[in-house]
Order: sequence, then structure tokens, then C-alpha cells
Amino acid sequence: MSIETQEQLEALRAAGRVVADAIRAMRAEVRAGVSTRELDETGARVFARAGARSGPQLDYGFPGTNCISVNDEAVHGIPGGRRLKDGDLVKLDVTAELNGYYADACVSVQVGQTSASYARLADASRRALHSGMRAARAGVPINEIGRAVETTVASYGYSVCRDLTGHGIGRRIHEPPNIPSFQHPRLDQRLTEGLVITIEPIIAAGSGEVHDAGDGWTLKTRDGSCAAHFEHTIVITDRAPIVLTA
Ligand code: MF3
Ligand code: CO
Ligand code: CO
Repeated sequence: MSIETQEQLEALRAAGRVVADAIRAMRAEVRAGVSTRELDETGARVFARAGARSGPQLDYGFPGTNCISVNDEAVHGIPGGRRLKDGDLVKLDVTAELNGYYADACVSVQVGQTSASYARLADASRRALHSGMRAARAGVPINEIGRAVETTVASYGYSVCRDLTGHGIGRRIHEPPNIPSFQHPRLDQRLTEGLVITIEPIIAAGSGEVHDAGDGWTLKTRDGSCAAHFEHTIVITDRAPIVLTA
């Protein structure tokens, strides 16, 4: 959506706060032995207290409140009995709907502090997100975001999972336009003031190719390499974007 009124901005800010609160609560419980279902329940309690609902459940019938993906699971992992182990990289991808407005964010969190390579991968995704946000302003072609993201990812020697993109958001999870994390020459449409989008570099240590894991939801890297993902929902302005999910 494109924001036209102060009320819309406030409604989106409120949805963004719920997302940030849920992520904060969930990440505080990340440790060896916790199950992804327990993390999901923590997020669900934050939603319930705020009167928010799960975007994935509402829009797609996702079998959980939040998407929680571990190691080679790139996106859309279903919360369940899997218990985290030291060294795992867990992605907490949280989308809330509050009063008809949506916000979406993701962090990658390491369990314990054992793997330098997973930490570096997560760092690359986080820095790529911030490169993309620095490029995002009114008047700039959409493909400049992807170019900034991809340049950062490539500087680390990692790959973007090109099948998975950022997106417009606001009254649904996924709205036009797509926001790829790579330079797409035909996306020369210009960003406009008030446009609400996500930027979300989903990257892998290997080729970046993903495939269906067989449960109808989870997408894994084809080569089994670890994936990392950071995401924010932002509003385009003629200066630095407003980050709704910080
Ligand atoms: N949070 C996901 C995104 O960033 C959307 C998940 S919706 C699902 O786009 F239903 F596919 F899980
Ligand atoms: Co998301
Ligand atoms: Co998203």
C-alpha cells in the first residue's frame, strides 16, 4: 500500500511494534533445548496480548503463528517439536496483522556462540538489509535496492536465494511490487513516497537454490548449505525510510 494519511501511518506503526515485540520475546528464549513450537507460542502470546493475529495464518492458512526456519531451511518453516542445538542458526520470521494492517520482519539468531561461519552468514544478511534500506528512497528505481543488497552479499562470497523476494505490504502480507534482493534490470519502476515495502535478503552459503522440503511449506537450500534472513518493513520517503519494525 501507499500511505496517504497520518492514521494509516499510526496503524502501521502499531502493527510494526507488535512484530518487534514478538521478535524480542522470541529471541530472548532462543537456547539449546527449546523447541520451535515453544518459540512460536511465545510470539503468539505477544500477539494475543496486543490483539494482533498471525499474517501467515490469516492470508495463507499457515499451520503456526510464525515461520521458524533452522539452518538449511530458508523460509516458511513450520513450528514444531524440533529442539534447537548449540550452533544452529534459527530464523524468526514474524508477520502480524493488527486492525487490518500488516507488518513483517525477520532476524537470524545463533544458538550459543559456536559457529563463526554461521555468524558471518547472518552478519552478511543483516548488512545487506541495511545496504538495501540506505538505497531505498523516493525517485530511485526498485532495482537499486536489489543492486545494493546483492553487492553486499557478493562481497562476502555468499548467494542470494533469488526465488525469494521482498514485497509491498500493508493491507495484506504480499502486495505489489516485488522487491528482489538482486539487480533485476527490468525493475526500473521508481519508488514513490509513502510506499510500504519489505526488504529481506534471504541468502545462503552455497548456490542459493531452494526447493520444497516436502511438508508443503518449508523451503530448504538444495545443496544443504545454511541460509540467513533479516527483514524489515519500511515506508519510502524522500529521505531515509521509516523503519516500522525496528
Ligand atoms: N513472512 C513471510 C515473508 O517475509 C511471509 C510468510 S507467509 C507464509 O514474506 F504463509 F508463506 F508463510
Ligand atoms: Co517475513
Ligand atoms: Co516479507
